[in-house]
Amino acid sequence: MADSGAARRQSLHGQWSSRLGFILAVSGSAVGLGNIWRFPYVAGENGGGAFVLVYLLCVFGVGLPIMMSEILMGRRGRRNPVATMRLLGEEEAGHAQWQWVGGMGVCGGFLILSFYSVIAGWAVAYIFEGGSGVFRNADAAVVNGVFASLTTSPLISGAWHTAFMAGTIFVVARGVERGLESAVRVLMPALIGLMLVLLGYSMMAGSFAEGVTFLFEPRFDELTPAAMLEALGQAFFTLSVGMGAIMAYGAYLPEEASITSTAVAVVIADTAIAMLSALVIFPIVFANGLDPASGPGLVFQSLPLAFGQMPGGEIIAVIFFLLLTFAAWTSAISLMEPAVAWFMETLEFGRVQAAVTVGGIIWGLGLLSVLSFGPWSQFRFGNGTIFDNIEYLANNVILPLGGLAIVIFAGWIMARISTADEIDPKCGRAYKLWRVGARFVAPVAVVLVLLNALGLF
Ligand code: PHE
Repeated sequence: MADSGAARRQSLHGQWSSRLGFILAVSGSAVGLGNIWRFPYVAGENGGGAFVLVYLLCVFGVGLPIMMSEILMGRRGRRNPVATMRLLGEEEAGHAQWQWVGGMGVCGGFLILSFYSVIAGWAVAYIFEGGSGVFRNADAAVVNGVFASLTTSPLISGAWHTAFMAGTIFVVARGVERGLESAVRVLMPALIGLMLVLLGYSMMAGSFAEGVTFLFEPRFDELTPAAMLEALGQAFFTLSVGMGAIMAYGAYLPEEASITSTAVAVVIADTAIAMLSALVIFPIVFANGLDPASGPGLVFQSLPLAFGQMPGGEIIAVIFFLLLTFAAWTSAISLMEPAVAWFMETLEFGRVQAAVTVGGIIWGLGLLSVLSFGPWSQFRFGNGTIFDNIEYLANNVILPLGGLAIVIFAGWIMARISTADEIDPKCGRAYKLWRVGARFVAPVAVVLVLLNALGLF
């Protein structure tokens, strides 16, 4: 065997029951608010077509090789991302400083989950709004009113944020293997099924042609350096790469499972759901004269108009927001896992204690986002509100830099024999493609987009 013993390390916290279990867990992490809430609104703010094109290039050219790198490093290190980076750094490069990449990722997870939980809280609230019948035949003014009274009230929005965080802490405290696999197995097909039903509605009742044109007709003048950075950041965010979430899950992957086919399956499913979501939302946006660039409220202000018109709209709304909540939940769990594993391994906390501590800190940070949609909405600096700045820092700075470091480590620092050992010891076509992606395509693309956004060329 061509390995140094690294491949035989045991995970410290159990394993996924099978390769399918792992695919489900990683798709549970990837598919979430990023696909249904964030992708449409960011595409809307950046003019559609050209943004979508860059996004797709980033997903397949940058995100996929990074996802494979995270899985292979996670499985080889079998620790939390900080310890894995330290261990592999020592093994492959002779020093431990790579651990800081893991550390940055753990911090990124805190930041992302802090706002993620607030938006997920809105989704929970909308399960009840949707069921109450307020959206029946509602026009845009009514729907906007419902949204505003939820999001501008720190008490109401904060309460839902608290509820969502409590649910996340609960699952993480029980251990990621239990419950997650079976939940995702049912929820993912249900979500896709419901999205297809909604797509049918959008095709019949929405301005479908206008929506498709907006999404797929590239207007290259819209392609500013800032928009390209947004597309890159969104690609990282939606695939959960760049902060170690996938690395933490990779640590629980059984030895024999194929990394390539897992990553490809997850990336395709994630992209399909994001596209579906945009194809449902934009026709409704245009049919109702809404502004595609209206920001983070887009999903919550467009879909209820459709639910209000459909027969059985209340039930469909309840099911939709329930599924969205679950999709966000499985992502939130993965956002906490690196930090929780770190607390357990480094500070020797028990799982429950680690989950409550990490969750508590994130909950507190989340109050900043709660307030920035309400009383602090006029307090703006840098990229906008506090929420806008946290989101920007996490998605457009931490994830791309973390992903860059990870892919450089896997592509350039790790010995070929070590990465081949994880991906394909025979070094077949998939391995060669990954290596070109990890050594050249992904790092060059990330560096170019970052320099471009800094205005350096
Ligand atoms: N990918 C998740 C989503 O699209 C968010 C996420 C980002 C999860 C980073 C984990 C790590 O909703």
